[in-house]
Amino acid sequence: MSILKILITFFSNTGNTEKVAKSMKDGLTDYDVDLIHVNDVDPTTLSSYEIVFLGSGVYASRIDKSILTMIKKAIPELPAKFVYFCTHASLKLYQEPFKRITDIIKKHNCEIVGEFDCVGENLGIPLDTQLAMLERLPEDQREKAKKDRVQNKGRPDEMDIENAKNFAISLVKNL
Ligand SMILES: Cc1cc2nc3c(=O)[nH]c(=O)nc-3n(C[C@H](O)[C@H](O)[C@H](O)COP(=O)(O)O)c2cc1C
Repeated sequence: MSILKILITFFSNTGNTEKVAKSMKDGLTDYDVDLIHVNDVDPTTLSSYEIVFLGSGVYASRIDKSILTMIKKAIPELPAKFVYFCTHASLKLYQEPFKRITDIIKKHNCEIVGEFDCVGENLGIPLDTQLAMLERLPEDQREKAKKDRVQNKGRPDEMDIENAKNFAISLVKNL
């Protein structure tokens, strides 16, 4: 039996999503896995993978547009199976950051076989700017947002990284 060929590709502004991506690769030792930054992916190779993992931080409720650009360049030669993963500063993912890619994937009869997300401390906006943004929130949202900011310190942490690894292992094993 041939070994499953998997691509893990990601965009990461401050390294949080990259940590998650690396951990997923570390878990998938039984497979032929390429871990490639999205800017270095050749879109013409995408369909040579059985599964493609797409990862990004969430910025203004969306994943980085480099992922979408890469997918658009690969059309119509898309792989059959995609996995999404993202990191975000809100303690719960309440957005739909991959929506535009999902629309493309469904149109081309590909499948989203798994999704993983975890919290990532916001290291990309200076602290004083973040605090000023919090003060501008409506009062009812401000306290919760302040608590979220304190609680996401140091994330993704060891547990998040372990969760990402286990997610990847069990997902691929059960496909
Ligand atoms: C400009 C900017 C916008 C952001 N917008 C959101 C957002 O809309 N929702 C959210 O939960 N986190 C948001 N974040 C936080 C990041 O998603 C989070 O810190 C993530 O882990 C960053 O991943 P990275 O280190 O891989 O870039 C934002 C961060 C930055 C710098």
